Amino acid sequence: MAISKRGQIIDLISHELKTPTVPIMGYCEMLMNPKFGKLTNDQYDAIKEIMKNILELQIYLDGIIEKQKRVEEADSLDILPRELRTPLIPILGYCEMLKSEKLGPLDQDQKEALDEIQINSDRLNSLINDFWNAQELELGKMKYHLELIDVTEFFNKISNKFSNSVMEKKISFSTNIESNLNVYADNSKLIQIFSNLIENSIVFVPENGKIIIEAKSQNGSIEFKVKDNGSGIPKEKHNELFKKFHQIDTSHRRAHGGGGLGLVIVKGFIEGMNGKISVESEEGKGTTFTINLPRKSKQYGIAH
Ligand SMILES: Nc1ncnc2c1ncn2[C@@H]1O[C@H](COP(=O)(O)OP(=O)(O)OP(=O)(O)O)[C@@H](O)[C@H]1O
Ligand SMILES: [Mg+2]
Repeated sequence: MAISKRGQIIDLISHELKTPTVPIMGYCEMLMNPKFGKLTNDQYDAIKEIMKNILELQIYLDGIIEKQKRVEEADSLDILPRELRTPLIPILGYCEMLKSEKLGPLDQDQKEALDEIQINSDRLNSLINDFWNAQELELGKMKYHLELIDVTEFFNKISNKFSNSVMEKKISFSTNIESNLNVYADNSKLIQIFSNLIENSIVFVPENGKIIIEAKSQNGSIEFKVKDNGSGIPKEKHNELFKKFHQIDTSHRRAHGGGGLGLVIVKGFIEGMNGKISVESEEGKGTTFTINLPRKSKQYGIAH
């Protein structure tokens, strides 16, 4: 088992994390070619910095892959420490600066090349954040900043966030939220929990599919449901769902490009806030994730 797990991790690092670095490098080289378009000195230096950091990241990833090949048990995620995030910060910063045209004007082709650099950098950033979160959860180091959240307001924001992707696939997206509901939770973690679940549903429902979100109070806790009428998950796979790097069908990963950590992080965050998650799903019919979060925090004993 250790071997296949190790193989999976290496595969994940080499494919998922290294893949976006290649086009970033390619587009940087293109932008620096004088034939492609004029650059100011500042623009040139910014692109050079992006390349320097991408190279650093690639060397670092190669080092991890080599190390992984040598270790016996590769079950732990401490293979991806803080250093992985360090080059991403300047990459995202320079991208932003170049796009704002503060360093000089850009023509249409240059803008498009920068868009590609930014899309791939964002993708890399969210993958690295997922690894980071999974590692912090595994080590029990995750910190939660609990606050009182208005559930209706929260889901209004979430609905806005997904309005474009829902529209593109002509999905009917609706919410059924009991009024005056508050939950005591970490807002950014709650956003990630529901974003991960909704992103999955969007991927797995067909065109014109349906996603419904429900929230109500239930025996001292708040019960949330994310329901979809997508492809569903076979029964025998339900236990595996919240395990690291688990994807029911790995060919799917190529198609939708997930790292397979979404549900691990969802479950970790929910349990970290003293909640529970369960799944009901039937192949071909759809999937419902049910989440229970306490109304009041055990930690601080604040009642609402
Ligand atoms: N709503 C759903 N309908 C059908 N299958 C699902 C649904 N949610 C999750 N799955 C299955 O569970 C797997 C794991 O989901 P998870 O969110 O953990 O990873 P991912 O979506 O593949 O990648 P990531 O979330 O890291 O981008 C998915 O690949 C898919 O096979
Ligand atoms: Mg996912």
